[in-house]
Amino acid sequence: MYPALKRTLLALLLPANIAGASDLRVDFVPRFNGVPLVFDSLANQTAGGQKISVTRLDFLLSDVALRRADGTWIEQKNWFAFIGARDGKTNFTLENIPGGNYDRIRFHIGLEPAINHGDAAQWPADHPLNPEVDHLYWGWSKEYVFLALEGGWQNGTRQSGFSYHLATDRQLMTVELPVALDLNSDRELQIALDAGKIFATPNQIELSDSSDTSHSRTNDLLAGQIRQNVEAAFGVDGVRDFPPIAELTRGTNYIEIAPNATPYRFTFADYFPRPDLPLDNPLTGEGVVLGSRLFFDRRLSAGNSESCATCHNPRLAFSQPRRFSRGVDGDIGTRNAMALENLAWKDSFFWDGRAATLREQVLQPIQNPIEMHE
Ligand code: HEC
Repeated sequence: MYPALKRTLLALLLPANIAGASDLRVDFVPRFNGVPLVFDSLANQTAGGQKISVTRLDFLLSDVALRRADGTWIEQKNWFAFIGARDGKTNFTLENIPGGNYDRIRFHIGLEPAINHGDAAQWPADHPLNPEVDHLYWGWSKEYVFLALEGGWQNGTRQSGFSYHLATDRQLMTVELPVALDLNSDRELQIALDAGKIFATPNQIELSDSSDTSHSRTNDLLAGQIRQNVEAAFGVDGVRDFPPIAELTRGTNYIEIAPNATPYRFTFADYFPRPDLPLDNPLTGEGVVLGSRLFFDRRLSAGNSESCATCHNPRLAFSQPRRFSRGVDGDIGTRNAMALENLAWKDSFFWDGRAATLREQVLQPIQNPIEMHE
């Protein structure tokens, strides 16, 4: 067969990939001292023993490179990604990487000067460097913040905020990590970013009224220390086949299960059919405890006055002895709060069946203005 024709046929057979090339999805896993980072909670303790919360962890990546087993690097120049950890923007996909084995990954946090001081208006609407996408562009100094870490801390008896912004060409960071990556097929690489380490190594950061902001001015020692810490705060968590469970999660949220979660044994009588539970959110002991706490948590309602259990009282078969239930503002609804039972086996919810899944159902009472009104 003519070589050109053969290549065309190969291309037709392999429409998604260049022959012999693979995709690598990179997923950042935010952590604090090893455990999954919970945003907005003061439960995190720094190496210096201070209690802090994290409300923002955003950064820009550029110039990603992979090292082949023979020591040569392949690099994607003019490549950028934005990670917004709190909003779940934690992954990107590198396409058409030549198949083979790789042993290191390297990337910048931040941008080379030519890009950093280039025209920010040049980037299309969905580009990571479009200021509307990343919210990391400083209009007044016409450059980007490379990394923003913000939160609160317990300052004696009061709470204070902290805001660490690493910017200016001086603070360009380079991260290089060993990895065992077989890219003869598509893979997912998980990289942990441990916010706890940003306060710990190599420079221990103590929060005080004078050290709770950094804007990377010249001679900003704190910014230099944080930069070193950020470079050391990444680590490879694992590599797995891709797509792993993508078929199951299509169209739904991708849910991260803590590696040390306790599997939950859901038992029911054997004359019951097997319920159709969501496969992308396996039951865990911790998840069940969390769900039951949320059910009784009044903070889910406006004014912290009602929990789910107010209208679905466990002592009354999760119902309420009123014809119509009363919401947080004293408004009377138009329907009776139904008893909640055997929900795992239902496929339509509410009196009129308007929700097809519990996931669809559960936000409605929280947002309903005459119920929990949030
Ligand atoms: C103000 C009272 C009120 C509160 C608070 C409330 N609900 Fe309800 N719930 C109702 C009413 C009324 C209905 C029936 C509504 C309808 O059919 O439109 C209902 C229906 C449901 C259903 C459907 C059950 C079925 O068999 O179809 C579920 C599940 C449910 N609620 C769970 C919750 C959860 C979880 C919360 C807390 C996040 C909650 N509810 C908070 C009043 C309330």
